[in-house]
Amino acid sequence: MDENPMSPRHLLNIQDLPVNTLLELLSSAQQIIDRGWHREGASHLLAHKTLINLFFETSTRTRVSFELAAKRLGMTVVNIDIANSAMKKGESLLDTLYTLQAMVCHFMVIRHNENFIPDYVAEHIAPPTSVINAGDGTHAHPSQALIDMLTIRQHKGDFTPLRVAIVGDIKHSRAARSQIVALQKLNVGEIRLIGPAHLLPEDLPGTHYHDMDAGLANVDVIMLLRIQKERMQTNDMPDEASYFKQFGLSKSRLKLAKPDAIVMHPGPINRDIEIASELVNNPQTIIYQQVANGVPMRMAILMHLQQLQAE
Ligand code: NCD
Repeated sequence: MDENPMSPRHLLNIQDLPVNTLLELLSSAQQIIDRGWHREGASHLLAHKTLINLFFETSTRTRVSFELAAKRLGMTVVNIDIANSAMKKGESLLDTLYTLQAMVCHFMVIRHNENFIPDYVAEHIAPPTSVINAGDGTHAHPSQALIDMLTIRQHKGDFTPLRVAIVGDIKHSRAARSQIVALQKLNVGEIRLIGPAHLLPEDLPGTHYHDMDAGLANVDVIMLLRIQKERMQTNDMPDEASYFKQFGLSKSRLKLAKPDAIVMHPGPINRDIEIASELVNNPQTIIYQQVANGVPMRMAILMHLQQLQAE
């Protein structure tokens, strides 16, 4: 049993990822794209390995892209139907996972509405299984942050001169928390956090703005976030129309950013709440490129962790 909860064979958060590994993952995902492996597959690479998707919360792009990434590397994928699993009969989380591990499982991809569940599993699960955090509560979503960094790099190259604005419901966003750490590790020029005071935790780094127009001035990257109603107390819940007025990205607001600014969103999007519907297919908006990068980035993560399992 591995005694070290921070074992590098897991991907639990961005904090624990050495900068060199982060950069290697970005390069390796780009190489996968350049070789066309993310589309055509390279099924010899991880043949005979098994990945189990355990999603205790809803997901479209994250679950599907882990599945496609694994299949394109030749792996066997099992999607556990949590609603119909033995956990409904009262089996504990760890007992369920030990049961799955007994059938041989190299990767457990876990999404959970509670913070630190993937860390807890990683502390208890024996080698060689790697745990990948696919989003825990409001804590972390490391693979999404890596996808976003890859997408920024494809457009902008160097991070050091960039001004990046993260906008919206930052309080409930695990994606934003992981993006902030990744941007810091990549020495980004400036991080701006924009949102209503009650959705913008004071302890987060960056320059804080409660005025969207001021915050967007001359930024290179605009990262929009979904209003996460399912995580809110009723008094946190903004009225949608007035939210869009104050913090929604409209065509005229986009003009405040640099002319070549890119508009991103980890999805799922709420049209006309965070982003004007007419901007979704605007040339500056690269949301579907983020989605497309999900497969090669997750292929790179699986290949990297597999190497650590073998060591
Ligand atoms: C995010 C998530 O689930 O954390 N989406 C994603 O994985 N791409 C953001 C969200 O739910 O708003």
